[in-house]
Amino acid sequence: MSLEASSEQFWLFGYGSLIWKPPPHFDRRIPGFVTGYVRRFWQASQDHRGTPEAPGRVVTLIERSYWEQLTDHHDSAPERVWGVAYRIIPEHVAEVKDYLDIREINGYTIHYTPFHPAPGVDPATLPSQVPIRTLVYIGTPENDQFVGPENPQQLVDVIFRSHGPSGPNPDYLFGLEKALDDLSPESGDEHVTDLSNRLREMISAQQQEHLGPVTDSPQQHHFRRAGSVDGQEETEKAS
Ligand code: BEZ
Repeated sequence: MSLEASSEQFWLFGYGSLIWKPPPHFDRRIPGFVTGYVRRFWQASQDHRGTPEAPGRVVTLIERSYWEQLTDHHDSAPERVWGVAYRIIPEHVAEVKDYLDIREINGYTIHYTPFHPAPGVDPATLPSQVPIRTLVYIGTPENDQFVGPENPQQLVDVIFRSHGPSGPNPDYLFGLEKALDDLSPESGDEHVTDLSNRLREMISAQQQEHLGPVTDSPQQHHFRRAGSVDGQEETEKAS
C-alpha cells in the first residue's frame, strides 16, 4: 500500500539540511537519532551547493557495516546519527512527497529507518509505536553522485570554493554544525566538527592573505544573513 493511500502517519527523518530547513506542512518536529548509519559529506551536489561543472559536497548516510570496511580518514563515528523527525499533516502528505522528490533528487533515493526520539521528548507528541518508522533520503554508494572517502582537507577545499543555486557550500557545513549543536548535548559529530574547524581556518587564512585583519568573511557574513532572515533557501527551487 502506498503511503498516500494508507491511513498511517507519515514521518520524515532529516539528518542534513532538513534539520534547519523544514519541509512544508509539518505539525511535529522531534529531535532524536537513528542507528546503523554513519553521516558523511560524501555526496556530490550539482543542484544545491554546487553545479554540474563544479559539484559541492553534502551529506549522505552510509550503512555502518559498509563504512566499517572502508578506509576513512575520520575513522570513528558516533553510534547515533542525530537529526529530526517531522510529522506531515495527513492532508498534505502527497504534496510534501512531490515537493521532497523535487528538492532531494540528485542521487538520493527513498529508504525507511526506525527513529528514536531524544530522551525527554514529551510522550504526548509521539505516536503509539516508538521507534517511529521514518522515510529518509539516502545517496547510496551506487548513485552517480556518491564520492566516497576523501582526504578531509581535499574535501573541505571543495566545500570552500563551491556555490550552487541554494547558496555557498560553506553555509551548508556551518548550518549543519550549528543545527546539530542546537539539537542535544549528545548530537555532536566529529566528521562535521573537524570539517568546520578546517573551513574556519581556511577562511581565516584567506582573510589574512587578501583582506587584512577584518572580522567577517563573505561566507560567514552570508551565512548569518541567510540563517537569520530565512531558513528556507533550499525550498525555493521547489516552489
Ligand atoms: C536531510 O536533510 O536529511 C536530507 C536533505 C537532502 C537530501 C537528503 C537528506
